[in-house]
Amino acid sequence: MTFPQVSQTYKDPYNYPEGIAFQEGQYLLMKDAKVSVLDWGFLHSDATYDTVHVWDGAFFRLDLHLDRFFAGLEKLHMSIPFDRSQVADILANCVALSGHRNAYVEMICTRGGSPSFSRDPRDAANRFIAFAVPYGSVANAAQMERGLRIAISDVVRIPPKSVDPSIKNYHWLDLVRGLYDAFDRDAETALLLDTDGNIAEGPGFNVFAVKGGSLRTPQFGVLPGITRRTVFDLCTMLDIDVGVGNVSPDALKTADEVFITSTAGGIMPVSSVDETRIGNGRPGPVTGKIKALYWDMHKDPTWSTVVAFPEDVRGASSRPM
Ligand SMILES: Cc1ncc(COP(=O)(O)O)c(C=O)c1O
Repeated sequence: MTFPQVSQTYKDPYNYPEGIAFQEGQYLLMKDAKVSVLDWGFLHSDATYDTVHVWDGAFFRLDLHLDRFFAGLEKLHMSIPFDRSQVADILANCVALSGHRNAYVEMICTRGGSPSFSRDPRDAANRFIAFAVPYGSVANAAQMERGLRIAISDVVRIPPKSVDPSIKNYHWLDLVRGLYDAFDRDAETALLLDTDGNIAEGPGFNVFAVKGGSLRTPQFGVLPGITRRTVFDLCTMLDIDVGVGNVSPDALKTADEVFITSTAGGIMPVSSVDETRIGNGRPGPVTGKIKALYWDMHKDPTWSTVVAFPEDVRGASSRPM
């Protein structure tokens, strides 16, 4: 009987987007960033994370993303050896070294693992990882232009009594089920229900309905998205009425406009919900106004943090005085 050889080096057959990761005190090429299969983040989805984007060389609302990440760590009894400003520096270094001026940036903490494979989470050494890869959006360019076709799945979003949705997490099996439901119904993405049959959220986004000039977004069982919060702020600036509360499937289908929100894509219009066309089937004026101000605010220093890239720093120091 012969046994297979144990390889001394691991060959990864997959391709990854180009970028830079931070792990165990080192900056690595994305393809070299790896997590042990014994990490509880992988084995049990025992992890929290946050995603912030960099647009035109600047983070957008980094403070709010750091607030949510550090609050999640506390609620999960996790700790990392870095404070807020150190995490901010690590994220900026990942972006600067990646060279991506439009980037999708994640900070992650997994429960980690223990050498004894103990089942007690208190024995685990938590693991902090960060990375920057090219910016990605829930909606592609064509969908942005014409609006997404969305289906309401029967799948119920994991309830807050099971997993606190304010802790950004990787419990996505319900969301992925919803996506397959949507694909079966010739839609492009999905919305899941809450335990009362109202609309909750979709795979990586919150949703808003516009009716008679007022906005409404689900309150219960959803991640309090930073883009959702930004819409509240933009509505104050634009003097648009906005509220949180139950949104039934019927209310969504009879809305004048519907849009979804995410760090990955910003404000994204929806043109149909199930078989129902929303408005005239084109992105509406309220959505357009909010979307325009959302991108304008990326240039405002109150909400953005500029990243220093190596070529900028080199350029500045070699410039004649
Ligand atoms: C389940 C879920 N809901 C909503 C959102 C939108 O949150 P944010 O606007 O902070 O990106 C996300 C983002 O990934 C998400 O994963």
